[in-house]
Amino acid sequence: MSIPSMEKVARPKVRQTQLLIDGKWVPSKSGKTFEDIDPSTGDVIAHVAEGDAADIDEAVKAARRAFESGPWPRMSARERGKLLLALADRIEANAQELAALEVLDNGKPIREVLAADIPLVVGTFRYYAGWADKIAGETLPVENPDQFFCYTRREPVGVCGQIIPWNFPMLMVAWKWAPALACGNTVVLKPAEQTPLTALRLGELAMEAGSPPGVINIVNGFGETAGDALVKHPGVDKIAFTGEYRTAQIIMANAAPTLKRLTFELGGKSPNIVFADADMEQAVQGAVDGIFFNQGEVCCAGSRLFLEQKIHDEFVDRLVARAKARRLGDPFDPQTEQGAQVSKEQFDKILKYIEIGKTQDKARCVAGGERFGDRGYFIRPTVFTNVRNDMRIAQEEIFGPVVAVLPFRDERELVREANTTIYGLAAAIWTKDIGRAHALAASIRAGTVWVNCYNTFDPAAPFGGYKYSGMGRECGREALEHYTEVKTVWVRMA
Ligand code: NAI
Ligand code: MG
Repeated sequence: MSIPSMEKVARPKVRQTQLLIDGKWVPSKSGKTFEDIDPSTGDVIAHVAEGDAADIDEAVKAARRAFESGPWPRMSARERGKLLLALADRIEANAQELAALEVLDNGKPIREVLAADIPLVVGTFRYYAGWADKIAGETLPVENPDQFFCYTRREPVGVCGQIIPWNFPMLMVAWKWAPALACGNTVVLKPAEQTPLTALRLGELAMEAGSPPGVINIVNGFGETAGDALVKHPGVDKIAFTGEYRTAQIIMANAAPTLKRLTFELGGKSPNIVFADADMEQAVQGAVDGIFFNQGEVCCAGSRLFLEQKIHDEFVDRLVARAKARRLGDPFDPQTEQGAQVSKEQFDKILKYIEIGKTQDKARCVAGGERFGDRGYFIRPTVFTNVRNDMRIAQEEIFGPVVAVLPFRDERELVREANTTIYGLAAAIWTKDIGRAHALAASIRAGTVWVNCYNTFDPAAPFGGYKYSGMGRECGREALEHYTEVKTVWVRMA
């Protein structure tokens, strides 16, 4: 089958990009660039300025100056909130253009970018705009109140290094910038090398919205060079990272000499659990959305589907029918439901896991299991049955449209299996039994539990992981904790 060629949304044209340092657009110091690839065709989109340690150093110095002597941390919190609102308005006004750029870079379908990514990005900036003037300390009831007045201040942490992945490039920028800026921090962002474009456009819009020089700096480049330099730089107070846990381990070690604050949002192997009493139609759709949304390149993807034995066969039939009916193809076509995997590397990794599932694990591949088309990095929605929890496809993060189906009979055994993974990012439970839902929500060690829904997100709802799935939380009030230091002030009154 070939990919439909009718392009309903025009492909944006980008040729050469720069870095954003101290409010100015500059080439990398080395003059080097790297190629940015369109994953739906394999063609080169643009030559991207490649920053490394020297550019990171400039960016960190600019962020330090902006933090220590610029207007940003000292301006009224309400003014900072207004800037975030102005940025949100500009994103909304440029939604079509930003969405098209995201599709070009990542390969995800335009309909999903417009329905999910854009509203979440705008919502995140507005949500934290609302927090900006509500981040407050406390007055404390200490002994001898006639003698001492004691209070706390919540102050920004300082310069925040932010390293993000390629699966939700714009949303990751929003999750990183919005709380950091609301608290009065300055930032140096290192986007993923696979998806460098939308962050740059967001940087442009932030400058238009009135962001002072040095508050937001963007250095594209590779993890081992630019990312590494940011982690080790003594001028950086905190690193917020989203990506693979193995990278987080390296970052943690490299951040140790300078004792940086760290927050991590990492991967998962999330159990999606369906009981026989669930609304079958909703649960089947939940299983489809849980694993195939965003080509399965989702940290909280429902990649382990636990089905109560008595509904197993019927459920699998319905899941397989929907997997086979999914519309794959040109991500610029608004009809397309599933686009391309982000890169050749990721495409190869997923195909390798499909091979492991078939040959080493000896699970049964009942849908997909192969690439789609002969151009670009498309993979058919893939379903494995006859899976045991100790198989590699049930334990290792594939980060693609591949679901492992595991039957269960006994609830206690189910909880044990669901928790038997190094990860703890998310889980879902489909049942009409409200008591069981709450009991299971408490027993599963994961940062988010969905009951009769999957992949619902909101900037107000904290998101993050237990175990190898992360440290700290993004979104909600919780994120503010990680972007502020608490200062205690004692005043002798008499
Ligand atoms: P990665 O963790 O290597 O990359 C994420 C970010 O970290 C990128 O900006 C990268 O340049 C940077 N980075 C890499 N090495 C670094 C280092 N030594 N120091 C500082 N920064 C560094 O993830 P990658 O290689 O893109 O994907 C590999 C696997 O990770 C995927 O197959 C998937 O399983 C998982 N992953 C999980 C994500 C999540 O949202 N939890 C997102 C992306 C990938
Ligand atoms: Mg990597």
